[in-house]
Amino acid sequence: MAKLLHIQTSPMDDLSFSVRTARAFLDTYRKAHPADPVETLDLWKADIPAFDFTAASGKYKVMRGLPHADGEGRAWQRVVEVVDHFKSADKVLVSSPMWNFGIPYRLKQYIDVLVQPGLTFSYDPKTGYSGLVTGRPVQLILARGGEYPQGTQSAGFDHQRPYLELIFGFIGFTDIRTLLVEPTMRPAAEENLAAATRMAQAAAQRF
Ligand SMILES: Cc1cc2nc3c(=O)[nH]c(=O)nc-3n(C[C@H](O)[C@H](O)[C@H](O)COP(=O)(O)O)c2cc1C
Repeated sequence: MAKLLHIQTSPMDDLSFSVRTARAFLDTYRKAHPADPVETLDLWKADIPAFDFTAASGKYKVMRGLPHADGEGRAWQRVVEVVDHFKSADKVLVSSPMWNFGIPYRLKQYIDVLVQPGLTFSYDPKTGYSGLVTGRPVQLILARGGEYPQGTQSAGFDHQRPYLELIFGFIGFTDIRTLLVEPTMRPAAEENLAAATRMAQAAAQRF
């Protein structure tokens, strides 16, 4: 039995291309793995802590091996809760829109809370950085209004796919699978969604 955590990051819900593709993925996954618990974390509804002065100073204290002041300890505890919840998953699905060539700020906030020294990565002056979230796959389902094919000029505008692949790799994922839903703002959007849905169903069988 493996727990699958779906991190939903589009606010468009039923109208969202990434959410609808992710739901097709999950429907197939549930049929293939009926005993596996599946949880969706909707980042537009979840209470993700702000990564403010207190949280950031708590992070710097951890990096310098210094004790936390009171407020920092409480802020760090909230960070630890978010990280523990994430690490409770054996498999991760992230569905995300492209916003301004990157990711929605709610997903960036979640990542800023998640990526922490001693919790999701470590640093050794001799060996450098190591990810601590190992041994599990992540499936990315990324919707974009336009298209950013590799090898073309527009590929350089894509800070969604490369960033998400980099940050999940940084915290330890080596099995990173990416499925694109694109373009969603052109006349063929519904056909593109249907094609992405078929790819998602096939990807879920292998997940
Ligand atoms: C705030 C905002 C910014 C966007 N920026 C881009 C962009 O930079 N490039 C792009 O191709 N599409 C952009 N789009 C279009 C979305 O990527 C597209 O509608 C996609 O389907 C959104 O995913 P969703 O349907 O899962 O919400 C943007 C949409 C919004 C609302």
